[in-house]
Amino acid sequence: MQGWSPAFFLPSVAIFVYTGGVQTRVEIADFENWRAVAGEAAEVLSSGAVVAVPTETVYGLAACAFNAEAVARVFEAKERPTFDPLIVHLAGLRDLARVAVVPEGIKQVVRDLADAFWPGPLTMVLPRHEDVPDIVTSGLPTVAVRVSSHEVMRYLTKEVGPIAAPSANLFGRISPTSASAVVSELGGRIPLIIDGGACTNGLESTIVAVEEGEKRPTLRLLRPGPVTREELRKYGRVVKAGRVTSGRPEAPGTLESHYSPAVPVHLFEDPGHFAPEEGKNYALLSYRGDPRDGYLERHPWSRVEVLSPGKGKLAEAAVRFFFALRALDTGGIDAIVAEPVSDVGLGSAIMDRLRRAAAERS
Ligand code: TXA
Ligand code: MG
Repeated sequence: MQGWSPAFFLPSVAIFVYTGGVQTRVEIADFENWRAVAGEAAEVLSSGAVVAVPTETVYGLAACAFNAEAVARVFEAKERPTFDPLIVHLAGLRDLARVAVVPEGIKQVVRDLADAFWPGPLTMVLPRHEDVPDIVTSGLPTVAVRVSSHEVMRYLTKEVGPIAAPSANLFGRISPTSASAVVSELGGRIPLIIDGGACTNGLESTIVAVEEGEKRPTLRLLRPGPVTREELRKYGRVVKAGRVTSGRPEAPGTLESHYSPAVPVHLFEDPGHFAPEEGKNYALLSYRGDPRDGYLERHPWSRVEVLSPGKGKLAEAAVRFFFALRALDTGGIDAIVAEPVSDVGLGSAIMDRLRRAAAERS
């Protein structure tokens, strides 16, 4: 049977051996030792290997962006199709010219967005620099860039330069918001995981394509996230992402079915629509865990996870979302029933993930 098993433990290191795979070391980066651990990760990256790294949004699987072979290892470990480009992480705005060529007409808005949201969970899609390997951008004329606020990622981008890093999960699966989630996704496939604790945002960055517009710059929202549409409006005309002619989404990775647990997810806008099948075990992904919402007492749920107990706070729900989905995606459950959250601000980002998790898999 496949699976990982702990081989031995040291105070801040655990080594997992995976049947038939490579050894994955998990190093804890805490308040006292994070610099030493990050230094080690920098060495591993410089040698051309990949490392799973915490960010404020979700864990990323990092490789040096200018090393095409290292980036290929990211695609291999994640089983990610090569048509799906990666986000490049920078140390700061001053590194942008290394990976992007920003047209005169949008220089100001790019600077303003960076001032407002970097370091932080905003990714900008901009015309690429020719030095960026094709494998990073999947051959697109654009590159996605962001500056993470997590100290480990900041250290690494300063030490080794631009870093390509998608979320550290197998393609199409639930994004990891803890090191143990990365172990269950990629244990035995990658040499090193830096454990920086739980991610503080819990949802992936907002992605906007920044373009010239008639009166104001156009911000095409490719993926909703922690920086909300409402916050972005101040900087330009926010428009919804469309579909390119091939039928693929504009952000190639934002496929309709994504964030998929192993068991099906059903999203019911109305609790009355839930009709359980005889003999099946259902779990509930509840927003507030409040019986007045009509879900909790509708069925003898096998398991319940509550995103923001009592209060229904969207920020708390976002932090717990992937964690809760992963917790329910365990043996003995036939399907997960999800309550909607309010579809505004950060709630829109949660609803985006929920709809994709609930979408039929092709
Ligand atoms: O918060 C995040 O953004 C995390 C952390 C690790 O930084 N990363 C992340 O990466 O979510 P990933 O690969 O799971 O999602 C990146 C998305 C994909 O849907 C990809 O298709 C899109 O960004 N993307 C990347 N480059 C693009 C480009 N040039 N044009 C349009 N979409 C792009
Ligand atoms: Mg992802």
